[in-house]
Amino acid sequence: MSAGPDERLDGAVLVTGGARGIGRAAALGCARGGASVAVLDLDGELAGQVAEQAIGRGAPASVGFACDVRDERSVAEAVDAAADRLGPVRGVVSNAGVDRGGLVHELGLDAWRDVIDTNLTGAFLVCRRALRHMLEHGRGGSIVCVSSPWAVVSAPGGVTPYSSSKGGLSSFVRSVALDYAGHGIRVNAVLPGPMDTALMWANVPEDEVPAMRELIGGQVALGRLGEPDEAAAAITWLLSERSSYVTGSQLVVDGGVLAKASIAV
Ligand SMILES: NC(=O)c1ccc[n+]([C@@H]2O[C@H](COP(=O)([O-])OP(=O)(O)OC[C@H]3O[C@@H](n4cnc5c(N)ncnc54)[C@H](O)[C@@H]3O)[C@@H](O)[C@H]2O)c1
Repeated sequence: MSAGPDERLDGAVLVTGGARGIGRAAALGCARGGASVAVLDLDGELAGQVAEQAIGRGAPASVGFACDVRDERSVAEAVDAAADRLGPVRGVVSNAGVDRGGLVHELGLDAWRDVIDTNLTGAFLVCRRALRHMLEHGRGGSIVCVSSPWAVVSAPGGVTPYSSSKGGLSSFVRSVALDYAGHGIRVNAVLPGPMDTALMWANVPEDEVPAMRELIGGQVALGRLGEPDEAAAAITWLLSERSSYVTGSQLVVDGGVLAKASIAV
């Protein structure tokens, strides 16, 4: 599935969770658009490989670092090192995320904290450090947080930690957008629908994945799961000057999932 031509980008873009899935697609999309790319991920080795691939796709420069977005020091070191190596940070894709489900009465505090710390506090830590760089350089910037349709709707079956984290993230985006609009820094969310990545199947037994792929794809209005490149196309558009009047928005890229009422008549 092709998501069309790439947006033109300049300067350095940081992508968290850039080693796999949607983050990897966004990092390579930024590279094709002409940006320098910093790939930050728990998996530093894979992040380094994606950084090498970014050079092959047209990035003027690229680095890959191990970074845990839950850890204040790890984020500060990675963001500062990326800015040192690549120059002023113009774009951020706060994408690192995990999904651990469970019914609330059975849910361990460690699982709850892991999801909130990664998906929400991680975005806060990355954006905070990157905003300091953007303000210092005074040339504006664009931040894209990867949220989810679960930010605005829910379903039975233990999605509470994930949906709480994404609801918080979408609210975070709205308020940060207002606080930094006067500095020329735009902040938006992308809400991808079901995409065929490791995270999508994190809570599904391996032998049930093919049937679940069919089942979920069949419930999407467009009749299939999305491709990471299709989320990346929205992300690179929001990073680019082509979206210069867009801030505080929640851009839904979900094949029609949110448009569909659950009760058919
Ligand atoms: N796949 C989907 O269907 C879907 C739908 C909506 C939203 N999303 C969101 O998109 C984002 C990317 O998801 P994906 O599907 O590409 O997942 P993925 O599992 O393919 O990739 C996630 C990446 O994040 C990294 N990561 C996890 N915890 C981290 C941490 N603490 N610090 C740094 N890196 C960390 C992982 O190592 C991995 O490389 C997530 O925020 C997810 O919630 C995904």
